[in-house]
Amino acid sequence: MILYFSATGNSKYIAETIAKSMNDECMSIVTCINEKRYCFENEKVLGIVSPTYFWRLPRIVATFLENIQMKNCAYTFFVLSYGTTTGSAVHFTEKLMQENNQKFDAYYSVIMPDTWTPMFDLTDQKKVDAKLNEGEQQLQDIIQKIQTNLNGDFVKGKLPVLITVLPSLYMYHTERKTKHLSVNQDICIGCGLCAKKCPVQAIAMKDGYPIWKDKECEMCLGCLHRCPKFAIQYGNGKTNKHGQYRNPNTAI
Ligand SMILES: Cc1cc2nc3c(=O)[nH]c(=O)nc-3n(C[C@H](O)[C@H](O)[C@H](O)COP(=O)(O)O)c2cc1C
Ligand code: SF4
Ligand code: SF4
Repeated sequence: MILYFSATGNSKYIAETIAKSMNDECMSIVTCINEKRYCFENEKVLGIVSPTYFWRLPRIVATFLENIQMKNCAYTFFVLSYGTTTGSAVHFTEKLMQENNQKFDAYYSVIMPDTWTPMFDLTDQKKVDAKLNEGEQQLQDIIQKIQTNLNGDFVKGKLPVLITVLPSLYMYHTERKTKHLSVNQDICIGCGLCAKKCPVQAIAMKDGYPIWKDKECEMCLGCLHRCPKFAIQYGNGKTNKHGQYRNPNTAI
C-alpha cells in the first residue's frame, strides 16, 4: 500500500508510479483520515509520499504520522517530493515517528516543480519540463532501490538541522494563515471546486464565492493551482505572475 498527500499531483504521481511498479494500490492520506484508518498490518510494502513544506512536512501529514501504526509490514519507506531543498524534513519525520514508537526502513526524495509560487515562477514551460524530467529519473532510481528493499536515508537537498529547524517552524506557522488567500470575484465563476477539494474543508461557498472560514489551513495552494479561472491568489502580489501548476501525469 502506498499512501500520499498531494495538492497539485506531484506526490500523487510518485505514489501511483511506485504502486504500479509493484502491482500495489494507492490511497490518499485525506481518505485515511476521513475513514479513521491509521493501522496498517501485514503489508508487504507500506510507503508514504508527501510534499516538503517549509523544510518540514504539511501539518496534515505530521498529524497522520503521529497516529499511524505499522504492524508486521515487511518493508516501510517515506518519500519526500520537493522543489528546491528538503531542509530538515527527514529529521522532523524521524522525530515524529520515534515519538510514536514507529520507524521507516528507508527515506527517499524526488525533485518536482516547486509549487510554492509566492516565491517560485512556474510560467516557463521548458524549465517546468526540465524539472519533471529530472524528477522522473530520480523516481526510476528510487523504484529500483525500493524493489530491493534497501534500508537507509537516500534523501537529497538537505540543509543543516541547526539552521533550518526553528525558521521552518516559524515560517510554516505564519504562512499557513488563510488571511493570505483571496478570490477575485470578477473572474470567479462560482463553480465551488476550491471548497469541494480543500483537504481540510477550510473553504465554504457564500453568495456564490469562496470564503475561508478557518483561520489556518495546510497552505497546500491546491485551491490556487486548481481553480479553472485562476481566481485565487496568495497575498504577496506575486502568484498571479508566477502561474498555475498541476502535475501533467495524473488527475488531481
Ligand atoms: C506551503 C508550501 C511549502 C513548500 N515548501 C517547500 C520547501 O521547503 N522545500 C521544497 O523543496 N519545496 C517546497 N514546496 C514545494 C513542494 O514540496 C513540491 O512542489 C511538491 O512536489 C508539491 O507536491 P504536490 O504536487 O503533491 O502537492 C512547498 C510547497 C508549498 C505549497
Ligand atoms: S474554483 Fe475558482 S472559479 Fe471555482 S468557485 Fe473557487 S475561486 Fe471560483
Ligand atoms: S484553503 Fe486552499 S491552501 Fe488552504 S488547505 Fe484548503 S486548498 Fe489548501
